Amino acid sequence: MGSEAKFSTKHLLGIKYISTADIELIFHTADEFKEVINRPIKRVPTLRDITVANIFFENSTRTRISFELAEKRLSADVVNFSASSSSVSKGETLLDTVNNILSMKVDMVVIRHPAAGVPVYLSTRVNANIINAGDGTHEHPTQALLDAYSMIEKLGNLRGKKIVIVGDILHSRVALSNIFCLKKLGAKVRVCGPPTLIPKFIESLGVEVSFDVEASLKWCDAANVLRIQLERQEIPYLPSLREYAQYFGINAAMLERVDRPILILHPGPINRGVELSSDAADSKQSIILQQVENGVAIRMAVLYLLANRN
Ligand code: CP
Repeated sequence: MGSEAKFSTKHLLGIKYISTADIELIFHTADEFKEVINRPIKRVPTLRDITVANIFFENSTRTRISFELAEKRLSADVVNFSASSSSVSKGETLLDTVNNILSMKVDMVVIRHPAAGVPVYLSTRVNANIINAGDGTHEHPTQALLDAYSMIEKLGNLRGKKIVIVGDILHSRVALSNIFCLKKLGAKVRVCGPPTLIPKFIESLGVEVSFDVEASLKWCDAANVLRIQLERQEIPYLPSLREYAQYFGINAAMLERVDRPILILHPGPINRGVELSSDAADSKQSIILQQVENGVAIRMAVLYLLANRN
């Protein structure tokens, strides 16, 4: 990698904790890694002799595979931990679990956990780089980075661009990380969803609120559509998913009523027919699979920059 610039922190705990310069450095580095992973030989020796543990206490398809591929393409040694098949079921604590893994000479930890704050907690107690792969309803920083990177590829600089985040804002770590990231990059951000799923404090983060999805689609340059997180809802926030789909679901007919081709993003997993119909999810305006592709380059950049900082 050509850049001499260094990442400002030892960990990636959330977008809230990093600077705009850090985000731009990640994007610049990801540009170089995107070129690498599109070559016939996709592997570079950059993280040889570094060992990364992917510690997942929650299910994942995209984030876990994307981190593992990013680590392997950088030639790191990789170990995967899944809570369901571990000694956590015998009563071992989180800190004991992580310390035992680290004593096997692990350098970096990628952690997903249902409790908000776990990556910050670990960063103060263990001697390894910590990367947050999603903590409860708090943050999912690499998702926000790959979302913004994918928008920039299509829209150019995000300064002044209008981005709407649609759906379950209250329970979404993707929403919070996106808001921090998009605001740092100068975008105008709106959230849209049912009033019960929009946190009361949200305007203090400098975003607009709308309850009208069709008007929000006409307002924006890009819509990031989120899943209803039923697994995090201890009480019913909606009469039914059918009603949610009727009032907040996005379909191709709605996109046709917008006078220009806005981008449609979704972090996955999609609940087809709820927040997005298949004709919208699979439309020319959808960049959902490009987001997934860019995730590997973004995570390679984050791993490289954190390892390079030690
Ligand atoms: N976007 C996302 O975090 O997907 P997974 O839960 O499959 O990792």
